[in-house]
Amino acid sequence: MRIKEALKEKNGSYILEKLLNKDKAWLFLNDNLNVPNEYFVIQKKIKNGYPIEYIFEEVFFYGEKFYIKEGILIPRDDTELVVEKAIKVINEKCKMKNEKCLVVDCCTGCGVIAIEIAKWTNTKVVATDISELALEVARKNAKIHNVNIEFKRCDLFDVKGDILVANPPYVENFWKKPNKYEPDLAFFGGVDGLDIVRKIIKKAKNLNYKIAIIEIGYNQKENLIEFLNEIDCKYEFFKDLGGRIRGVKINFFSKK
Ligand SMILES: C[S@@+](CC[C@H](N)C(=O)[O-])C[C@H]1O[C@@H](n2cnc3c(N)ncnc32)[C@H](O)[C@@H]1O
Repeated sequence: MRIKEALKEKNGSYILEKLLNKDKAWLFLNDNLNVPNEYFVIQKKIKNGYPIEYIFEEVFFYGEKFYIKEGILIPRDDTELVVEKAIKVINEKCKMKNEKCLVVDCCTGCGVIAIEIAKWTNTKVVATDISELALEVARKNAKIHNVNIEFKRCDLFDVKGDILVANPPYVENFWKKPNKYEPDLAFFGGVDGLDIVRKIIKKAKNLNYKIAIIEIGYNQKENLIEFLNEIDCKYEFFKDLGGRIRGVKINFFSKK
């Protein structure tokens, strides 16, 4: 197959750019050359369900490149909305404080949320995950992006802070994963998907957090409202451009 034909295939240009270490312009100028054999091996893997992000160990999020590897959740575009919301809220709430606000990113995975917050706000950021492999990848990303984040391996979080941000596992247990290579641990949150979300909210309330910003599924609003109405808090759901619910912002009332 010549480059010309490969460029018409899904992911063709990206795979060739990576394999040949050339840019798109070079590919177009040399489109009569044959593609290397590896091209077919990679396309076959992708067709069999292996995520392209794991092949080249990179993923783009919030306009930037991050390291990723098999076994860690590949960040999704939807989460960019949560990051955007968190940065806005943090910059509004924390600029009045004399000392730095403490923001905790619970369930950090490869660290994208914590890293963007560390870049775009003037806060101290702590990131937690129960998976040592996730933390290893997140630490590497923090180094690549030159940001200072404290990483902690724990069940949810055990530090007091001002603002809690999370994209936890929130998928219903019956759901079929998009591929078998991303970990169950990153997806499933019980029968209605909200077991871990509820635990995070309770914990944030008990540890006296002021605000929590949490990603949830588009169909989970009603179930979560039932739970939130039992807690002393104010909440608002936020939506993506398509009008679908993507997350919730919770203001906890002070215990005093
Ligand atoms: C949906 S992924 C989110 C990853 C990342 N924040 C993102 O948005 O791409 C959920 C993460 O939660 C972690 N996790 C699952 N259960 C946890 C728990 N009880 N405590 C801390 N982290 C947990 C998983 O290891 C996984 O990295």
